[in-house]
Amino acid sequence: MLTTVENVRILIDPFLLRNELAPLKPGELKVEYIILTHAHGDHLGDTVEIAKQNDATVICVSELANYLSKKGIRTHAMQIGGAFRFSFGRVKLVTALHGSMTPDGVYGGLAAGVVIAIGDKTIYHCGDTGIFGDLRLIGELDSIDYMLVPIGGNYTMDIADAIVAVEMVKPRIAIPMHYNTFPVIVADPEVFAEGIRKAGRECVIMKPGETIEI
Ligand code: NI
Repeated sequence: MLTTVENVRILIDPFLLRNELAPLKPGELKVEYIILTHAHGDHLGDTVEIAKQNDATVICVSELANYLSKKGIRTHAMQIGGAFRFSFGRVKLVTALHGSMTPDGVYGGLAAGVVIAIGDKTIYHCGDTGIFGDLRLIGELDSIDYMLVPIGGNYTMDIADAIVAVEMVKPRIAIPMHYNTFPVIVADPEVFAEGIRKAGRECVIMKPGETIEI
């Protein structure tokens, strides 16, 4: 969750109830926006419940927005490469090499990463993705301060690929994500951090529930 200085709360991929590592339950959250990178169960997660409780707007690709609209959720549909200026800042959906289908088998459109600019800070949440050459372009189009990068392997990049991906995007700070939730994506974030620091960049490892100021 991102909280702006104006106290707008933006949740990304809220997978809580069935996530043993999540320190919060869906009912404990107050949010205005939810951004979804794709429709898989460990990303769509508790979106419907949280969005209904908060009358929140869900920002995602149009196929997934259509699915959520039918459930009575307020949505803002976008597509890969498109950007929109919301009250809190600018959101751009970017390529992610991944699939997207809801847990009940509905096609979710293309999987996405998201570049979020709030004030003078830019955050790039990669979503679930394998490594690809145009990561370099994403880093050229926007100067990235914080890059949240998957390291768990199996469904996404592993640590070795994630270190190369960070070198391509050149963020000020890299934050590892998408690891240790399931047995097939066990990874040691310290190994990732060591690789990032060897390449002369900064890495911050966040624990579940931890807050940092950016
Ligand atoms: Ni996924």
